[in-house]
Amino acid sequence: MPLPPGSVRPNDAVHTPVVLPSIKRATAPIVPIRPIGPEHRAQLLRHFLALNPDDRYLRFGYAASDERIRAYVDSIRFGQDEIFGVFNRKLDLLAVAHIAIESGQTERAEFGVSVLPRGRGLGIGTRLFERAAVDARNRGLRVLFMQCLSSNGAMLKIARRAGMKVHNEGGETEAHLELPEDNYQSHLNALVENQTGQIDYLLKTAMRQWRCFWLFGRCTESA
Ligand SMILES: CC(C)(COP(=O)(O)OP(=O)(O)OC[C@H]1O[C@@H](n2cnc3c(N)ncnc32)[C@H](O)[C@@H]1OP(=O)(O)O)[C@@H](O)C(=O)NCCC(=O)NCCS
Repeated sequence: MPLPPGSVRPNDAVHTPVVLPSIKRATAPIVPIRPIGPEHRAQLLRHFLALNPDDRYLRFGYAASDERIRAYVDSIRFGQDEIFGVFNRKLDLLAVAHIAIESGQTERAEFGVSVLPRGRGLGIGTRLFERAAVDARNRGLRVLFMQCLSSNGAMLKIARRAGMKVHNEGGETEAHLELPEDNYQSHLNALVENQTGQIDYLLKTAMRQWRCFWLFGRCTESA
């Protein structure tokens, strides 16, 4: 039975603690990741529209037009699915992860991710996967899976590094990670990560307002 975020099973101590995925903590970069709500639809749209045709193909599995991207963003079911994002100092979304849970599905969730080119190679995709795995685990899901093109070297690296089982079929790859049960530590990890992401967002908001109003006298989209 999934527990609400922040709650604890009484007998957590007897569950074997499992950390997901198995990246080396000492070398993992600190990436402030924040849950994204419907109030960020405009930023989500800007993020996906900023992907070039090749990246859209890699992310969605087809050459998504601007219209299809608008429809995708409008169709995100906040509350059922989970969206995580990484904001830059202008409060644009540098990276977005979507954990999609099919209706009536209590076992499996699908992971999709995109990082804008200027943020790549810094470990953000890996950290978003790790955050998604913890979230899915805390929701009581058993499997986190993702689909990508077999030519998507960066995504396959993330999958293998996370210990996912990878299955190639033709030009496509499906990878899945079996999730252990949630425990006290996994809920605490999520709580700390959410707080870190929230503090980072509030600091960036304050800095942006300071910059806009004190330096330019007004806030514009590009400030
Ligand atoms: C896939 C994607 C999310 C990776 O994001 P990222 O933040 O760069 O990922 P990370 O930095 O955590 O890790 C990527 C790893 O792949 C490696 N890599 C990059 N391109 C690669 C390639 N062509 N072949 C093999 N490895 C590659 C990087 O060097 C890095 O490894 P390292 O950490 O050992 O240096 C990003 O490239 C992206 O948004 N692509 C377009 C959308 C997409 O493909 N989405 C996935 C489908 S769901």
